[in-house]
Amino acid sequence: MERIFVAGHRGMVGSAVVRALKQRPGCEVITVDRSQIDLTRDDEVDAFIEEQQPDGIIFAAAKVGGILANNSYPVQFLSDNLRMAVNTIDAAHRRGVRRFLFLGSTCIYPKHAPQPIQESSLLDSQLEPTNEAYALAKIAGLKLCQYYRRQYGAMYHSAMPTNLYGPGDNYHPQNSHVLPALVRRIHEAHQAGDEQIVIWGTGSPRREFLYVEDLASALLHLYTLDNPPDWVNVGTGVDLTILELAQMICRVVGYRGNIVTDPTKPDGTPRKLTDISLLRSTGWAPSVDLEEGLRRTYASFLQESADYALRAV
Ligand SMILES: NC(=O)c1ccc[n+]([C@@H]2O[C@H](COP(=O)([O-])OP(=O)(O)OC[C@H]3O[C@@H](n4cnc5c(N)ncnc54)[C@H](OP(=O)(O)O)[C@@H]3O)[C@@H](O)[C@H]2O)c1
Repeated sequence: MERIFVAGHRGMVGSAVVRALKQRPGCEVITVDRSQIDLTRDDEVDAFIEEQQPDGIIFAAAKVGGILANNSYPVQFLSDNLRMAVNTIDAAHRRGVRRFLFLGSTCIYPKHAPQPIQESSLLDSQLEPTNEAYALAKIAGLKLCQYYRRQYGAMYHSAMPTNLYGPGDNYHPQNSHVLPALVRRIHEAHQAGDEQIVIWGTGSPRREFLYVEDLASALLHLYTLDNPPDWVNVGTGVDLTILELAQMICRVVGYRGNIVTDPTKPDGTPRKLTDISLLRSTGWAPSVDLEEGLRRTYASFLQESADYALRAV
């Protein structure tokens, strides 16, 4: 029986990984609540890993937040994320954990990385200033895994997911990402019978979205490879405009009002797409297309609302 500790199991990614692992025969999933083990505390992390003796760790814990939070609290975003990563990776190696899969993000690539973004773009040029603190912590975690592998031969490696969506997403009216924010606003407009919804900017920036259960499937695939890349993009390799995304969500929700753009609001970077050829070369490809993923996400949104469990932090 392979014992796998999923760090951050209550989060959107961690909970999807736990669901996927539970489908796998021969796996025992280990989780622990943050109230019991704070991953920023090295003594607690070390004692927990010594006691539990996992064979492997999938590290989906992080302090995450939107632009405002990242910009306002760079100390916490750098310090907490750095400590969580270093504590867990160091303790894993000290206690003989055989395998470690660390979660990076495509948002830690440089601001002007050529599109579609390849793995080789990491550290190639300036980071995006608004999430520099988060990116530095994540890059340190990813590099620490690479160094353990190089120096000690430990099978520690990382995945770089694109924008994710799915069950357990954050639907906060101001802090959420574009896709859950649109799901919520279009749902509310539908309920209220509004004739139109307004979306920020021109609607023309292009973005890529991966269903979180596809990510979980990719992570388990990477976890089982004999010789995984040190870090590898996990995305769909397909993008669409924000306006097209809003139109698709309207179809899924059943909302027939108009979508109005507000070009006085900022658009952000024109395109963000990942190159997933390295991932494909390892034998994995995404299987949930966006419209199907949105249908499942909207069903989860309705269920989470009905259960008073909608996350909005
Ligand atoms: N969401 C995306 O679109 C996206 C895209 C690319 C990459 N990623 C990466 O995927 C990873 C997980 O993201 P997510 O969206 O699943 O985030 P999330 O939903 O906020 O989950 C983060 C998890 O980390 C736990 N955590 C935070 N601080 C902790 C601490 N000090 N001690 C113990 N646990 C702690 C949280 O516990 P509580 O629930 O108890 O607070 C939560 O379970 C991150 O590394 C992120 O960069 C996410």
